[in-house]
Amino acid sequence: METWESLEAACRACDKCSLHATRTNCVFGTGSRTADLLFVGEAPGEQEDLSGVPFVGRAGKLLDQYLFAVDIPREDVYIANILKCRPPQNRDPLPEEEDACMDYLRAQVKLIDPKVIVCLGRISAMRLIKPDFRITREHGQWFERGKYLITAVYHPAALLRDPRKKEEMLTDMQAIRAKLEELAEVRA
Ligand code: URA
Repeated sequence: METWESLEAACRACDKCSLHATRTNCVFGTGSRTADLLFVGEAPGEQEDLSGVPFVGRAGKLLDQYLFAVDIPREDVYIANILKCRPPQNRDPLPEEEDACMDYLRAQVKLIDPKVIVCLGRISAMRLIKPDFRITREHGQWFERGKYLITAVYHPAALLRDPRKKEEMLTDMQAIRAKLEELAEVRA
């Protein structure tokens, strides 16, 4: 199995797709490497590309607010993206970019071995849950993928565009918190 060090070094040197040519930083992932909870977003935006850290821009600040609201410290979770490099003008990832990048996320999942994976938004859910995932209809539902429980919530950027979705987001985040507590009780 890959080590964190070799994986991160490979990712930072990656040139498997054309996005390497325009990146400032590879945005590998951040947080607890022993987290029960893994969030997977779509791809770095401008602030993330500049800083090398996922979810630090406006959408990231909103994600922080939801984590705070349900009493989950950001440092206790791991946060990664489907793509580690920023697509130009934040366009949707291309299938070949996702294909080229997925091995990094697969290795991160193996190393972290979380209990619960939360897809942030449609792109992540379509890749990790099912290709025809419908975020409006299926957010908050639970799926089993191998040994992992997986769900999807709205992408925080979608909440910035449409604040009417915020109530559902809070409900989903509260359910995620409850699921983690339930799993901890089963183990205790
Ligand atoms: N949006 C994402 O999907 N990921 C980030 O890291 C930032 C914004």
